[in-house]
Amino acid sequence: MRAFAVRGFGEPPSILDLPVPAADGEFLVAVRFAGVNPLDNSLLGRLKADSPYPFVVGIDFAGIADRVAPGDHGLRAGDRMFGMARTHRSYAEYTAIGPAARLEPVARIPDGVADDQAAALPTSAITALRTVDVLQVSAGQRVVVMGATGGVGGYAVQLARSRGPQVIATVRGDVDEARRLGAHDSKIANVIDAVHAAHPPGVDAVLDLISGPDAIRRDAEIIRPGGRLVSTIFAADEAWFAQRQITAHNHASSANPLISAEGLTKVAQLLAAGTITTRIRATVGLDAAGQVLEQLRSGGLRGKAVIRISRRPPDHPRQSRWVPAGSCSEAWNCFSQAWKSSSVSSWPPGGGGGSMRGLLEPPPWPLCGPPLPIRNPQMPNTTSTTRPRK
Ligand SMILES: NC(=O)c1ccc[n+]([C@@H]2O[C@H](COP(=O)([O-])OP(=O)(O)OC[C@H]3O[C@@H](n4cnc5c(N)ncnc54)[C@H](OP(=O)(O)O)[C@@H]3O)[C@@H](O)[C@H]2O)c1
Repeated sequence: MRAFAVRGFGEPPSILDLPVPAADGEFLVAVRFAGVNPLDNSLLGRLKADSPYPFVVGIDFAGIADRVAPGDHGLRAGDRMFGMARTHRSYAEYTAIGPAARLEPVARIPDGVADDQAAALPTSAITALRTVDVLQVSAGQRVVVMGATGGVGGYAVQLARSRGPQVIATVRGDVDEARRLGAHDSKIANVIDAVHAAHPPGVDAVLDLISGPDAIRRDAEIIRPGGRLVSTIFAADEAWFAQRQITAHNHASSANPLISAEGLTKVAQLLAAGTITTRIRATVGLDAAGQVLEQLRSGGLRGKAVIRISRRPPDHPRQSRWVPAGSCSEAWNCFSQAWKSSSVSSWPPGGGGGSMRGLLEPPPWPLCGPPLPIRNPQMPNTTSTTRPRK
């Protein structure tokens, strides 16, 4: 099978021809799409001489059950399924998941959710859902999402918004995108000062996806006594914040109860219900996996990327959606069709030069960057804050 993988210590990842995982007693999945996350880059950076090689990149996937594990999991061969493959990983034509593997949930993809959308959900949507839960976001509150237009932030803004609080987004350069996600207010520069000036009594909760250990301390300037803070990058000194009457929590995936079949199903249902959108900004072939990882590392993607793995049409009747493999021209067709079918009359909405502008230029690799399925571009009371990189 083709896989984007590291052959040995010190080598860069490349397309390798690897054996299909043996998968005895496990789910064997023909991967259709792999979802791209910063964690994929992080794991590459953490490889050591004694790491298992070849090391396939990626965790999130959506595909077709080729073989199912024994047990009462409700999945049959031929079902569309998605999940997190931490052991065999996902930038490959096949992956395998043990039925009881820790932190490797799988679930059926519900009707109404396409395979590429399902691949864009697991890590970031489940993280967003859990962190919004931990922050106890509710109506009448003010909530700040820092790094609001990224993979986790995009879902978090939409989820927070659906629970009724005023949502303030901090972004690096795309206020329009934060507004489209439903943020009421957004800040671009000097965000702590700007949020403080706009909300002097302090906000109730901050989800900080970007600040390192020093920068995150400034969040104390904008959180009211009794307020809450979550960091997804383990930057918060919980004792330091406790001294300031702020409950800080470093979110760890290992302690996320939503990394489960139920959590996967929940975020897919939220997608099917229209509560969240996936914001897939780039769909690339496996050959361009390195380029999209580099783009994620260098910034500016502002949404999700997925890698189309399988170019074969489905051979099972329960596979409900098949999108032909992309070429540049197909990508342009797809893009322009999606554009035409969206509810905005110009792109970017309002005629500005937002972060989607790059997608109007010839794509550097087979690319289909659909614009957001915008439901209501006229969000009332909507505004967005950007801060320099930590
Ligand atoms: N602990 C966990 O379980 C867990 C789970 C998931 C993710 N994470 C971590 O959480 C972080 C966010 O994940 P993600 O998937 O959302 O990453 P992402 O898709 O790369 O998004 C990060 C976003 O932050 C924006 N940004 C960067 N610097 C900024 C700044 N100074 N001000 C405002 N916005 C800024 C980026 O803007 P541009 O678009 O301009 O680049 C990007 O939109 C990553 O470090 C990831 O590793 C942790």
